[in-house]
Amino acid sequence: MRQARVWFAALIAAALMAAAVACVNNTTQNSGGGSTAGGYQRKPPKKPGEPVHIGFSMDTLKEERWTRDKDLVEARAKEVGATVDTLVANSDDAVQTNQCNALLTKGVDVLIVAPHNGEIAGSIVEAAHSKGVPVISYDRLIRNSSPDLYVSHQVEKMGEMQGKYALDHVPKGNYVLIGGAPTDNNAMLLRKGQMNILQPARDRGDIQVVTDQFAKDWRPDEALRYTADAITKTNGNIQAVVASNDGTAGGAISALEAAGLGGKVLVTGQDAELAACQRIAAGTQTMTVYKPIKPLADSAVDSALKLAYGQPLDAPDKINNGTTDVPSILQVPVAVDKANLDDTVIKDGYHKCEEVYKDIPSHQCPKTAENKPSTTGGQRSAFASALALVGFLFVGVAVAFGKRR
Ligand code: GAL
Repeated sequence: MRQARVWFAALIAAALMAAAVACVNNTTQNSGGGSTAGGYQRKPPKKPGEPVHIGFSMDTLKEERWTRDKDLVEARAKEVGATVDTLVANSDDAVQTNQCNALLTKGVDVLIVAPHNGEIAGSIVEAAHSKGVPVISYDRLIRNSSPDLYVSHQVEKMGEMQGKYALDHVPKGNYVLIGGAPTDNNAMLLRKGQMNILQPARDRGDIQVVTDQFAKDWRPDEALRYTADAITKTNGNIQAVVASNDGTAGGAISALEAAGLGGKVLVTGQDAELAACQRIAAGTQTMTVYKPIKPLADSAVDSALKLAYGQPLDAPDKINNGTTDVPSILQVPVAVDKANLDDTVIKDGYHKCEEVYKDIPSHQCPKTAENKPSTTGGQRSAFASALALVGFLFVGVAVAFGKRR
């Protein structure tokens, strides 16, 4: 009897030890039940060939670039056989949170989030993780949490490009600084990059910052107001406007034009929006920062699949979000002005030459199929069809003629 009790106790102890070992293993391995890499219990990985369902939560489609992001994310997903549900929050934090909850309830495998408010969106990451769903922070960094991945461009470097371009061309004078949305981490990184370059010149007394503001939700009308105020304050004595994106650049340029200063003040931007490229061609905006969107969208979707299938990510960079070092994939931006507009944005097919130079008919656009307006394409295909029809009739007549002989 005593021996039986000893055996029973030994059996219980062995079972407990086995359970403990299984627990430890589960934190480091991708077991069938899903790993806990990243500090949360992941959904079990998808089996090879099983389709992946992605939720894409966007802040806005207000700026042209975001429409491109949406189209390219959806196109890439289709290409790789995944499905995407895209929801747009129109700059409303509560709406974005609710939309993400709805996507999680629907059972998405991965959530890609372009946050309106980087701080508040931390709660979206928590909600997703509590359901075992990984989160990719898209273009803008989510803070207060541990997103699984951050895909973006080198944002601080873009700020440096704007600051350097301005300082190289306007080494002395009065500067207006217009930042983006205070809720957007990118706006902060851009300003940091700009000041890396501008602060030493300011300390030397070479440049004076007459206005230093951030435009709520990147609104062009706010940029217009800040620039108009600066014009009034300085009696029109402004040499450079460092606007953080093309939308705010557009607002600033409207204020400059209203004061008769259009084309006389250096204005920076970012996004290579069509309207900004047209202004660069016309000489009212001086530069923009071109960030190709396709590599960004592709990296988000391809990484979403890797996360869903439990494969390792290929994320060479790391960005600290205040909570942790987030594995990151950062694309390289390009500074664009009048001199390289054709060799960058147009050469890449990001915008059509005819569209960029539509108000400058004297500009010679290369006669490539890419750059011909679509009507020309239509005319060409009509011509080809007519030619084919004539050929067809000719063969028919020849055959009939041959038979008669
Ligand atoms: C930023 C982004 C820019 C611009 C801006 C306004 O986060 O980096 O490309 O679009 O938002 O939406």
